Amino acid sequence: MEKFIINGGKKINGCISVSGAKNAILPILASTLLIKERCVIKNVPKLSDVYTMVDLLKYYGADVEFSDELIIDCSKIENKPPSEKVKEIRASFLIVGALLGRFKSVSMFMPGGCNIGQRPIDLHLKGFNLLGAKSQLESGIIDISTQYLSSGDIYLDFPSVGATENIILASVFAKGVTTIRNCAIEPEIVDMVNFLNKAGAKIKGVGSDTIIIEGVEELKGVEHSVIADRIEAGTFMIATASAGGFLKVENIIPEHIKSIILKLREMEVEIEEGEDFVIVKSSGKTINKDIKTMPYPGFPTDMQAQFSALMAKGCGTGVINETVFENRFMHIGELNKMGANISVEGKVAIIKGVEKLDGAIVKATDLRAGAALIISALSAQGQTEIENIFYIDRGYDCIEKKLSSVGCDIRRVNI
Ligand code: UD1
Repeated sequence: MEKFIINGGKKINGCISVSGAKNAILPILASTLLIKERCVIKNVPKLSDVYTMVDLLKYYGADVEFSDELIIDCSKIENKPPSEKVKEIRASFLIVGALLGRFKSVSMFMPGGCNIGQRPIDLHLKGFNLLGAKSQLESGIIDISTQYLSSGDIYLDFPSVGATENIILASVFAKGVTTIRNCAIEPEIVDMVNFLNKAGAKIKGVGSDTIIIEGVEELKGVEHSVIADRIEAGTFMIATASAGGFLKVENIIPEHIKSIILKLREMEVEIEEGEDFVIVKSSGKTINKDIKTMPYPGFPTDMQAQFSALMAKGCGTGVINETVFENRFMHIGELNKMGANISVEGKVAIIKGVEKLDGAIVKATDLRAGAALIISALSAQGQTEIENIFYIDRGYDCIEKKLSSVGCDIRRVNI
């Protein structure tokens, strides 16, 4: 077990290069299960979720080398009963779409709820069923199978990221043309589809609310570089807005973080945009504004906790309305331990900015909640200890090294 010890009050100064996107590499890894040739993937973040997914691919028989780049050969994979490892990350459920596409049958543990909400899979199953597959649930294991996958016309009742990706994966080899309507348009889905199209898939409309997939017979090996992680970029931008200072955030796609840039500007943070970077300048004093989370291009739910931390010490009152997940305010209790004045009523948090936060012993309750605690700790007076940092390692590649390099006082220690 490890924890972070952070001494707050240091201004940020320097430049951070952002890693590849967690939410793009995970579906791309699932996609490789459809390909019987060697794939080379670059800009892969070194995250515990990525290692878990790689272990799962190896379980099915993939040959994997992971150093600077990730080389995967899924030519010899076999369909198997589910591994207990799938329970470690929800994104492992994307393996279902890929195995269904490749073998026309799959057996998988049902993903449970998690700290941020129930997270049902009804939309994934509705999609598979409309492609002709039948599903059966027994003792927590779901079996899905079909003789062949046929084309389908599928309407998603909510633009779910995971359901959109899973249905695309299942329909790449389906006979005929499949349409997914009201689908999610997150940049990470576009990256997965770019990967699949390079491999020979015929997927059109990605990035719009209607995706059309023309089934193909097979895919070939490809080389691909993962897009930058917009949530990691946003986290460093907010850390600077909160602690004060100057930060160049490099190796990013500014278009993907427009809602974050514009919200920070509303809060009186100075931001300059370049082709593949942003520069953030802040005195550490910001003005609280209201936020409503929404599917992309709306304000990302994955940035909600970090903005809560910024607003905890902003001027005035701001209201955050979390519309995507039903239980994503677990970090609020921890921020209040540091002196924040935040109340939660259902899916709404009312944040009354305070003059200062104080260091405390706090616990990460999920990945982005952990990032929020780091942001608060960096601008708080005194020392903060953050426990349960394994959550943070799921989605941030070397976060303490990156923050130390720009003047933050953050150390990882064994408990
Ligand atoms: C993905 C991201 C996660 C992000 C989320 C929303 C990955 C690996 N994870 O998660 O970081 O927070 O998108 O941007 O990419 N829902 C249903 N039925 C379903 C599926 C989803 O009701 O069958 C609901 C969920 O409970 C949730 C909402 O839809 O309330 C959004 O979920 P979804 O977009 O599916 O998120 P994930 O793909 O799990």
